[in-house]
Amino acid sequence: MKIVVTGGLGFIGSHTVVELQNQGFEVIAVDNLSNSSIEVVDGIERITGKKPIFEKLELRDKSAVQDFFKQHQDIAGVIHFAASKAVGESVENPLLYYENNINTLVYLLQELQQKETANFIFSSSCTVYGQAENMPITENAAVQTAMSPYGNTKQIGEEIITDVAKVTNINAILLRYFNPIGAHPTAEIGELPLGVPQNLVPFITQTAMGLREKLSVFGSDYPTQDGTAIRDYIHVVDLAKAHVVALKRLLDKKNLDKVETFNLGTGTGSSVLEVISAFEKISDNKLNYQIVGRREGDIVEAYANTDKANEVLGWKAQSTLEESLASAWKWEQKIRG
Ligand code: WQD
Repeated sequence: MKIVVTGGLGFIGSHTVVELQNQGFEVIAVDNLSNSSIEVVDGIERITGKKPIFEKLELRDKSAVQDFFKQHQDIAGVIHFAASKAVGESVENPLLYYENNINTLVYLLQELQQKETANFIFSSSCTVYGQAENMPITENAAVQTAMSPYGNTKQIGEEIITDVAKVTNINAILLRYFNPIGAHPTAEIGELPLGVPQNLVPFITQTAMGLREKLSVFGSDYPTQDGTAIRDYIHVVDLAKAHVVALKRLLDKKNLDKVETFNLGTGTGSSVLEVISAFEKISDNKLNYQIVGRREGDIVEAYANTDKANEVLGWKAQSTLEESLASAWKWEQKIRG
């Protein structure tokens, strides 16, 4: 039973390939290597004892996608991570995002709709909620007008999948991630941000390693307990495990609807200053940071209501914020050491 993981050498993709192989699935990891490294295949092998099948594939090339699915008729499911994901970059270069995040989805679905049955897991994001009205955020919270082209591609992606599933044999699960952080406990794989990290945790670990002079905390005038913005930071391995649970749900035909949606978070919100103090505690490192103005497009607060994932998927995040930060720190020290 072959499972295709697009973006399979990326941050969340590679951790999901590990969990799939640990559970006996045969994986084909496809990636265009635009934001990942081929060495990740070896890291996955060192963790699982099994080298995943890897195929370099440019999903923006429709005929290449068609050829791939002609070669691999026995695909039982697709977990689709491959996408551009930097909010700021998407504002600067929207067409890059609409081409890379939407065209590729359409080409994948065009292949899957031709199959007897097709199981599709889509990497979505809590960003579709914008600034949700109520905390914690449930799956039926309003999907608000996207704050960025990146967020819009996730909303459009969900709508495309929903429309297509209605009239094809495709069954889908949309997974709305909150903030994925950390690295595999073996430190054999982890996050490899290209250039200056956009996200908080890799910027913290690079600052602690001396690669960055100091962390800028974007705003301390938010209406929160300590004035800094709140997010739900979930360990990437917990997130990866949720994908295997969701895939099994579709393979075992346990899904109640053609398209199901789940929030994947810990259910706990942490402010930027709380993340910094947790990091200082686990790393025994005084972090150099300064408070600056708010970042354009940031929301105040987002953390997940995890009841549906807990009760329907039977999945719950296990790692604490400190454990997640400790794994990120171990990884940073390993790759820079
Ligand atoms: C977290 C908090 C920042 C950097 C985005 C996407 C989301 C997902 C994760 C792809 C915020 C603050 C950050 C820094 C800071 N992306 N911060 N200094 O913006 O919540 O979510 O990334 O899957 O879809 O929307 O994550 O890590 O960028 O920011 O103070 O140098 O840390 O203001 O409050 P975000 P983030």
